[in-house]
Amino acid sequence: MADFSFAHEGVTLAYELVGDGEPIVLLHGFPFHRGMWRAQIEALADEFRVIAPDLRGFGQSALAREDVEDGVGMDRLAADVAAVLNHASVREPVVLVGFSMGGYAAFQFAFRWPQRLRGLVLADTRAVADTEEGRAGRLKMAEAALAAGDASPAEAMIPKLLAPASLESRPEIVAQVKEFITAASAQAIASAQRGMARREDVRERLGEIHCPVLGLVGAEDAIASPAEMRGIIEALPNGKLVEIPSAGHSTPLENPNAVTHALAEFSRSLAVGG
Ligand code: MLT
Repeated sequence: MADFSFAHEGVTLAYELVGDGEPIVLLHGFPFHRGMWRAQIEALADEFRVIAPDLRGFGQSALAREDVEDGVGMDRLAADVAAVLNHASVREPVVLVGFSMGGYAAFQFAFRWPQRLRGLVLADTRAVADTEEGRAGRLKMAEAALAAGDASPAEAMIPKLLAPASLESRPEIVAQVKEFITAASAQAIASAQRGMARREDVRERLGEIHCPVLGLVGAEDAIASPAEMRGIIEALPNGKLVEIPSAGHSTPLENPNAVTHALAEFSRSLAVGG
């Protein structure tokens, strides 16, 4: 395993690269960092080259001065991912996996750099923009985090991040999610929430994505429901959906083996000569 960091347009970006073979890039969600993919990184590295960036502001990746005030747009996150691939000398097309906020960034990457994709995985993510109420909630959380000086206001999301059964009887997963939140800074919460609040509605653009797409959704996802994910996949020229059992929104944490298996199978099916 190797951790890398480099300066990109004045900001330090960090990522992990492990294994050899066809590249798979894992984009984490909010309020997580690349550690949410730990189980997948370890399992997939036996067969693939796994690249897991910390998205700007999270984990070991920094924020630019203006990011907190302006919010980090999903196009900015996508450009950071392209910079990570350049730094890692990944020139061949990749399988790009975007979980939730990582999925919002993955859409932007797919629109801008279609030639860099062998396949796209959209995990527990959404194509619609926020409602007014959703946007207001994000801006309120941004303010609350900055006022508190930490990420504690994001704890209010926990009931939606996990399936009811995980919340009730899997205290280790609840504790893990709390740890991710504690690890995030107030600035990371504010910049990401402000950026997500102004993300575009990409439903009209789904037809632009021609590479094979795998949709993954927790059977009990309360943020990106199976019905909503099905709508995304059906609007794509080349998509299929796999429902992950025993999971809510946080599929990579709640059912790591099923997620790893689906990612490996999809990536194998796209491998050169596969
Ligand atoms: C995530 O898991 O990345 C978030 O739930 C995304 C969001 O808040 O829309």
